[in-house]
Amino acid sequence: MITIRKYEKKDRNAVIDVCYHTGYMGDDCEVKGKERNHFSDKIFFGLMFCLYYVDHEPENCFVAEVDGRVVGYTLGTLNSLRQEKLFLQKMGFKILFHLLFITFLRHVRDFFTVMGFIVMGVKSLSVPPNPRNMKHEDIVRKYPAHLHIDILEGYQRQGIGSRLINAFLEHVKKSGVKGVHLGTSTKNYKAVPFYLKHGFKVVSVGGPSLWLDAPDARGITFAKKIT
Ligand SMILES: CC(C)(COP(=O)(O)OP(=O)(O)OC[C@H]1O[C@@H](n2cnc3c(N)ncnc32)[C@H](O)[C@@H]1OP(=O)(O)O)[C@@H](O)C(=O)NCCC(=O)NCCS
Repeated sequence: MITIRKYEKKDRNAVIDVCYHTGYMGDDCEVKGKERNHFSDKIFFGLMFCLYYVDHEPENCFVAEVDGRVVGYTLGTLNSLRQEKLFLQKMGFKILFHLLFITFLRHVRDFFTVMGFIVMGVKSLSVPPNPRNMKHEDIVRKYPAHLHIDILEGYQRQGIGSRLINAFLEHVKKSGVKGVHLGTSTKNYKAVPFYLKHGFKVVSVGGPSLWLDAPDARGITFAKKIT
């Protein structure tokens, strides 16, 4: 049986697991049968991409449970400007500490992958702005909420993602917030049709993806008004 419910503290490890196993542009960071994973340090991945939400905004997080196992989630915020500031305050030191004293010592390849994220981030600043793209400050003003949604591979395409995103959108609506946005990659062949089906429109197609090993992927931002 599939249950969609609010996040609870006991779900924390399962959320990290889902994040890690879907975090390489929708695919698993762990590459079974190959010498090298896309990324190995699961906890660092969690610190970067999901733990802020469950630890600091659990009221904006939902999980999908199938027969007692958490197999997916929607994590988000109602106020992206506030979240961006809080992320730095609450997670910045933890991320840096973990990167230098755990990732560097135990997962040195991941350390260089993270350096690659930084290089790609800096590179994206030098990409001339596309006049058709909405500016980030306008996106967060017009569509203040944002979300992340991930479902483990064996549970995808069974309607769980639709139920989760509807739960989040209903929560946004009840909170009186007028719009929501999210980021994905042009390479994510599951997520792009999913968001289009749920009425999101593209507001920006941008710079390079974070992953050095996917040089042709581009970041893409979707947004939806909540009425
Ligand atoms: C994207 C994702 C959240 C969709 O959730 P889901 O539970 O699989 O989606 P649903 O079963 O509710 O499908 C709804 C619609 O999404 C689209 N969709 C979902 N999976 C798809 C796939 N593999 N290929 C193409 N379209 C797909 C379809 O339009 C589908 O409607 P249809 O089945 O009537 O054709 C899920 O595939 C996922 O978690 N992927 C890995 C992680 C990820 O990419 N997260 C998004 C990061 S931005």
